[in-house]
Amino acid sequence: MEIRCPRAFLLPSTIVFFVFFVPQILVQFTHASEEEFTRPPAGNIILSKHERSEMEPQQVHVSLAGSDHMRVTWVTEDHRAHSTVEYGTAPGEYTARIRGEHTSYTFFSYTSGKIHHVKIGPLEPETTYYYRCGASGPEFSFKTPPSTFPIEFAVVGDLGQTDWTKSTLKHVESKDYDVFLLPGDLSYADSQQPLWDSFGRLVESIASCRPWMVTEGNHEIEIVPIISPHGFKAYKARWLMPYEESGSESNLYYSFDVAGGSIHIIMLGSYTEFDSDSDQYKWLQQDLAKIDRRTTPWVFVLLHAPWYNTNTAHQGEGEEMRKAMEELLYGARVDIVFAGHVHAYERFTRIYDNEADSCGPVYVTIGDGGNREGLAMSYKEPASPLSMFREASFGHGRLRVLNHTHAHWSWHRNNQSNAVVADDVWLESLSASGTCMGQEPSSLKDEL
Ligand SMILES: [Fe+2]
Repeated sequence: MEIRCPRAFLLPSTIVFFVFFVPQILVQFTHASEEEFTRPPAGNIILSKHERSEMEPQQVHVSLAGSDHMRVTWVTEDHRAHSTVEYGTAPGEYTARIRGEHTSYTFFSYTSGKIHHVKIGPLEPETTYYYRCGASGPEFSFKTPPSTFPIEFAVVGDLGQTDWTKSTLKHVESKDYDVFLLPGDLSYADSQQPLWDSFGRLVESIASCRPWMVTEGNHEIEIVPIISPHGFKAYKARWLMPYEESGSESNLYYSFDVAGGSIHIIMLGSYTEFDSDSDQYKWLQQDLAKIDRRTTPWVFVLLHAPWYNTNTAHQGEGEEMRKAMEELLYGARVDIVFAGHVHAYERFTRIYDNEADSCGPVYVTIGDGGNREGLAMSYKEPASPLSMFREASFGHGRLRVLNHTHAHWSWHRNNQSNAVVADDVWLESLSASGTCMGQEPSSLKDEL
């Protein structure tokens, strides 16, 4: 089924192809092992121009913000534009109007537009809302996720803004889904701030109609002495996630519920402190402790640098975080851990501490969204028995959670004009395992 986004509002003829050459004059984090493997020619960067007036919204995207609210985010070049959203369940008939907040930032000589964040609701589940930003410009629409099963997630990492990115997004929107999940590396602006704006315009047609839930990758860091000594300046300003709603003190890690609380999703930060006395670790402990697997049968985690990886790219980069946090996730019986960073696809079996373990999470690397750096083509040999499927191709994943016990994961490789399911597997929730939940089969039977 096609996503019913208002196609009339897609920017016409905004895509301009050009080859991008800018000297790397800024201090930033780089991939330590990028030179160690051969990648095919990178896709051309796509620059998405701004073709609306300065008062009109651009880069519109929505995200979940609590159990029955959504946050609408957009940018205007004119700082006099209002941070208001009008919305309703019929086109052009707005029954509510909510004022939100706004921010902006500077980065060297660059000054961002006015970045608006407006939290709207309460909203009904699985309902299409039509909305307008700042009482100006086109009408957009989004559909809220369902409050029950089934629910479907599109999962895409290391997206960037190339012709491969465009291909991936075209495949994503060719089939309906409820929530978009992105485990880091969004724009690949790498301190060149206009590319953040270009990325926002590129993804608007998709990100304005389904919630986009993201966590940060190394390309979001953008550390520059004095100007942004702690990094993440653009990311934090532009991609505000519901960290306050989940008791986190940082936009770099948070959690949220979907499907009426039946699914809990945790977004972790690979590039902020994670050791046992860190704020992130303590928050994760508390967040996991709140989960009742009788009412929340599914728990998923997203982070950027993979803990398990048989590609030669980025070997060991997630190891310190794994050592610090794996026991927490294992103890909580997390079902799946998604990562990006490695520009390829790989699915592992259930693992704990480098060994197959039926009570551990399934690990998936899905860093193949289509960025300008190309694919990570080289794998360690012989293949680890823990690695069930691996391939260096661009693509995206889909996780369809059917009910309390079963979900279907599929990986869709980008072909020239279509997407092909190249890997798929049925998954059973660990909450359904009496052994993993510390219950004897007989006592589990009594509860049921
Ligand atoms: Fe990365």
